[in-house]
Amino acid sequence: MKVLVTGGLGFIGSHTAVELQNKGFEVVIVDDLSNSSLNVLEGITKITGVAPVFEQLDLREKALVEDFFKRHADIAAVIHFAASKAVGESVEKPLLYYENNVTSLVNILKELQKRPRASFIFSSSCTVYGQAEKMPITEAAPLQKALSPYGNTKQIGEDIVNDVAKVTNISAILLRYFNPIGAHPSAEIGELPIGVPQNLVPFITQTAAGLRESLSVYGNDYPTPDGTAIRDYIHVVDLAKAHVVALQRLLDHKNQEKVETFNVGTGTGSSVLEVITAFEKVSGRKLPYKIVGRREGDITIAYANTDKANAVLGWKAASTLEEALASAWKWEQKIRNLQ
Ligand code: NAD
Ligand code: WQD
Repeated sequence: MKVLVTGGLGFIGSHTAVELQNKGFEVVIVDDLSNSSLNVLEGITKITGVAPVFEQLDLREKALVEDFFKRHADIAAVIHFAASKAVGESVEKPLLYYENNVTSLVNILKELQKRPRASFIFSSSCTVYGQAEKMPITEAAPLQKALSPYGNTKQIGEDIVNDVAKVTNISAILLRYFNPIGAHPSAEIGELPIGVPQNLVPFITQTAAGLRESLSVYGNDYPTPDGTAIRDYIHVVDLAKAHVVALQRLLDHKNQEKVETFNVGTGTGSSVLEVITAFEKVSGRKLPYKIVGRREGDITIAYANTDKANAVLGWKAASTLEEALASAWKWEQKIRNLQ
C-alpha cells in the first residue's frame, strides 16, 4: 500500500515514515527541503532497512503537484505534514504562511478529489483551541480566534478539509497535536531547528550541549502551581504511531464520519520547571536558566483529553516525559558529537 508523506523529511514526518515502513507501507516522501535535509533520508533508511521513494518538490507549485499525482496513480493515501511552522515568523511574514500552508493543501486536495476514493490525514494543532476554558481539552472544546497567522492556517486548513470532504470522495482525519518532543531512540533522526530554537525542548538540549548560555523561562507568574506555564509534551514516536492507526482506520473504512478529529497528546500537563527538573534528572546535568517575562501570545495551560483517540483509535501515548527528554538529549549529543 503506497502512502504519500508530504514534509516527510521534517521532524514529525520522518518519524512517521519510519513507523509506516515498520508496518510494511510503501512510503513516498515529497519535501522541498525548506526546513529539512537529505541526511534524514539516510536516517530513515538506516532505521528501517528500506529507502523510501523521495522527490524534492515544492507543493505550492500546482503544475508540479498535478504531474506528481499523474506519475503516482497508485497512491492510496496522503499524510500531509508539509507546512511552515514558526509562530513568530508567521507574524512577520503572514503571506509566506498563508501561501505555503493553504496553497499546498489546496493543490493536493485538487488532485485527490479526482480519485474514486482517497484517504487524507492533516497535521493540525492544539493551537486551534487557544486558551481553552476547561482542562483537559476535549475535541468538542470551542475553537478560538487564532493568535498568529500560523495558528490561523491550521484553522483554515481544518475548514478546507471539512468543506472538501463533504462533497468529494475524500475521507479525512484531523490530528490535533499537542507539544511534540524527542527523537527516535536510535538517534538516527530527530528535530533539526534552524537558528535559535523557539521551542522549549530543543532550547534546553542546545543549552545543555553548550550552544546556548542559558534558558530563559518565560514567566513564573502564571496561575499554575509553580507559576510556570503548563503543556502536554508528547514523544514524537508516539505521535508518529497515532498516524499509522489513523491511516489504517481510513483504509479499512472504519471511519464513522467523512472527517474525524482527534487530540494527540499524553493527557498530562507539565510545567516548564517540571520539564527542566526531568531533563536534569535524565541528563545528569544542571541546566542554567533564568526567569524572564512572559512571551507574547503564550497561553497558561493546555493538555489533552485523549479519551477519543484511546477509545476510537485504540491509541495511547506510551512514553513518559523522562523517556522523551532522554531521547531528545541522546539526539542532541549525537549531532554535536558529544557522545
Ligand atoms: P518540520 O518543519 O520539521 O517539517 C515540515 C516539512 O515540510 C519540512 O521538511 C519542510 O522542508 C517541508 N515543507 C514545507 N513547505 C513545503 C512545501 N511547500 N513543499 C514541500 N515540502 C515543504 O515541521 P514538523 O514539526 O515536522 O511539523 C509537521 C506538521 O505538523 C506541520 O504541518 C506543523 O504545522 C504541524 N504541527 C507541528 C507541531 C510542532 O510543534 N512541531 C505541532 C502541531 C502541529
Ligand atoms: C512551551 C513552553 C513557553 C521556550 C508552540 C506553538 C504551537 C505548536 C507547538 C505547532 C511555553 C516555554 C519556551 C523557551 C520557555 N506548534 N518556553 N523558554 O508555545 O506551547 O507551542 O509549539 O502547531 O502552535 O505555539 O511550545 O515549546 O514554544 O513552549 O520558557 O526558550 O515553554 O513559554 O510555556 P508552545 P514551546
